[in-house]
Amino acid sequence: MHLGANLIHWLGVGIIALVALQALAMFVSTAPRISSQTRQQRLAEEILEEQLRTARARRVIREESSHSWNGWRKFRVLRKVQESADVVSIYLTPHDNIRLPSFEPGQFLTFQLRIPGVPQPVVRCYSLSDAPAEDCYRISVKRVPAAKPDLKPGVVSNYFHDVLKEGDIIDVKAPGGAFFLDLASRTPIVLIAGGIGITPVLSMVNSLARLGTISRETWFFLGARNGEENFAREHLRALAAKHENLKVHFCYSAPAAHEKQGVDYDEACRVSADLFKKLLPSNNYEYYLCGPPAFMESLTRGLREWGVPDGSVHFEAFGPASVPAKPAPAATAPGASPSAGSITTRRVNFARSGKELAWSGDAGNLLELAEKNGVMLPSGCRSGNCGTCLTAVKSGKVEYNKPPACQPEAGSCLTCIGVPAGELVLDA
Ligand SMILES: Cc1cc2nc3c(=O)[nH]c(=O)nc-3n(C[C@H](O)[C@H](O)[C@H](O)COP(=O)(O)OP(=O)(O)OC[C@H]3O[C@@H](n4cnc5c(N)ncnc54)[C@H](O)[C@@H]3O)c2cc1C
Ligand code: FES
Repeated sequence: MHLGANLIHWLGVGIIALVALQALAMFVSTAPRISSQTRQQRLAEEILEEQLRTARARRVIREESSHSWNGWRKFRVLRKVQESADVVSIYLTPHDNIRLPSFEPGQFLTFQLRIPGVPQPVVRCYSLSDAPAEDCYRISVKRVPAAKPDLKPGVVSNYFHDVLKEGDIIDVKAPGGAFFLDLASRTPIVLIAGGIGITPVLSMVNSLARLGTISRETWFFLGARNGEENFAREHLRALAAKHENLKVHFCYSAPAAHEKQGVDYDEACRVSADLFKKLLPSNNYEYYLCGPPAFMESLTRGLREWGVPDGSVHFEAFGPASVPAKPAPAATAPGASPSAGSITTRRVNFARSGKELAWSGDAGNLLELAEKNGVMLPSGCRSGNCGTCLTAVKSGKVEYNKPPACQPEAGSCLTCIGVPAGELVLDA
């Protein structure tokens, strides 16, 4: 009897222990599942919400872009804001008061100006430096000094700084260019600016912020000599404080004596791939860069050496292309297709000027070849963006050292980025 009661007691204890163990096991196994399910669900909801927001933003951009225009349109200078000693922002609104089309962040406007003392109208491109707004476009222009004592300072930048005033009317082409950020993508990005090359990437980061929260990982690196060249410093610091996914890093090559590391700037160095290796968890980003030629060359080379695929590096040049998309072609014989390593000459006939010239790989593009030999062709941006150098091809073919942002119509070419693919006759 005593033995039987003991047996029943221990059997009961065993059953209770087993049930408790099972309950504990169930709790242990389901608790993280429930919380990870909740987390996954929350993430999925956030992604959906973000996708809807960006889809809405893209729809607005598409709808508003449909109000675009061809050729030149009159714009009125709404206001000018001196951002720093060298940079002025210009706000422009359409003179006809008809709705303003939107643009993709990173794109530029093309301007045609009649400047007193300059015989021909002058054409230049300027990136839009803010997110799309309903009533105006903003550009930010750096004053360009004379390259040498015997040359004149930059024609258009100085005109914008010193002569253009609020209320003036100027001719503007619709936003264009293939260097822009896809706002619908969630891929982590690195935005990189050198000096005034900040303008298109500023438009990108402002456009992301305008969507609400910056939900994709975003790095913003700015290379400048010092704070004098960093007109958006306070604005970018404020954005980074508001958006935890945005990291802003200022690199000054020559900080002023009063500027403090950790406050005014982050590092006394140049922006480089070595810096990215130090700060980024991997190289797995899309990179958007804009800056002076040496800056772009060293960064694209550094990124390539770090194993970043060329397709993940997007760039804008503010002048003649400094980073060739593919090696400049070299001809083996007139009319033959280019083959690397061999350079021979090709004949280029400027039919209207009556000049036949020999082009070889080191002669540069067709525009440079013409100018060096006294054939004056129209030009503007000199980087395949504005279409001013469009010239009819009478016979032969032209190839490009970078894809033209402004597609030449059939039977024509852009001389500023074009080289002859064989014997060539131009209507110029
Ligand atoms: C897509 C794109 C976007 C751009 N975005 C911006 C932007 O957002 N902000 C910005 O500030 N700029 C931007 N630029 C650059 C801008 O378009 C102009 O190139 C820049 O303002 C200089 O123009 P300028 O008329 O003032 O100078 P230019 O008159 O073109 O002179 C430029 C320099 O060349 C020198 N020079 C003149 N003649 C000669 C000669 N014969 N030989 C050698 N040198 C000579 C001048 O002294 C001067 O130093 C952009 C360019 C492109 C293509
Ligand atoms: S000069 Fe602008 S496209 Fe050639």
